[in-house]
Amino acid sequence: MTAPDRYGVMGYPVSHSRSPVIHRLFALQTDQNIEYELLQVSPDKLEAAVRQFQRAGGKGLNITVPHKSEVVKLCDHLSERAATAGAVNTLSFREGEIRGDNTDGIGLLRDLTLNQGLAIENMNILILGAGGATRGIVGPLLEMRPASLCIANRTLDKAKALAEHFRRFGSVSACPFSRIPDSNRYDLIINATSAGFKGETPPYPSAAVSPDTFCYDLSYGQSPSPFSLWAREQGAEKSVMGWGMLVEQAAESFFIWRGVRPDTAPILKQLKITA
Ligand code: ATR
Repeated sequence: MTAPDRYGVMGYPVSHSRSPVIHRLFALQTDQNIEYELLQVSPDKLEAAVRQFQRAGGKGLNITVPHKSEVVKLCDHLSERAATAGAVNTLSFREGEIRGDNTDGIGLLRDLTLNQGLAIENMNILILGAGGATRGIVGPLLEMRPASLCIANRTLDKAKALAEHFRRFGSVSACPFSRIPDSNRYDLIINATSAGFKGETPPYPSAAVSPDTFCYDLSYGQSPSPFSLWAREQGAEKSVMGWGMLVEQAAESFFIWRGVRPDTAPILKQLKITA
């Protein structure tokens, strides 16, 4: 048997990542001979670690917090969606070159539309947070033609900069948490802050939630996230964590690398049971 092709996920910290399990399950399902490692790499060692992985014959990497923006500089080619986002979560090493792509947005859209059955068109959307995670999802969401999209952030300047960057793709505005326009109740609120990850609870905007608001947390865990709990307390009937996005973005990365699209439904079921 030939040696497996090497893949991995680079982040800091990265021990919580479920990507190795997901990609191993994909490989089993689609009969692909790969290995997938967890690679904890601090920001100052990112470039050296990526180049070392490439030199050693590695085929591809997922890039996660906090490296998604920084790694753009190392890419020889960027896909359109990575260039639009200014953030990369998937690297492919081919013919001596590094190609960067971003599968976060398509992963979220697949989960929202296919798994959760939402129609994004004409929705009023509120995104909390203006970091790397938000960068990856705004472009693809705007492509679905929502009625409005507002980015709220603790640091207003970062939200403004993102709104400015994405304005050519659709109707997008920025505001601080304290000034979220409650005139239009939101159909979809997405938590893209890293607050829960750090055990913090920002002043989430209660006025933005109605029973019909679909609340989605990009982060995921074994128990409900602080944002999910908060959303339920505000009366939102649907509050979902990002397991589906995690599996869908991984499936898209797997497709880029292997040319085979795994069936995500059984993997999602298996993952939630063993989480
Ligand atoms: P990354 O770009 O890797 O996603 P980041 O730049 O640290 O990471 O972004 C994390 C997001 O979570 C930011 O929008 C951050 O708000 P600031 O831009 O004001 O820093 C947000 N965030 C993190 N902790 C938060 C907290 N306790 N309350 C509110 N927002 C928080």
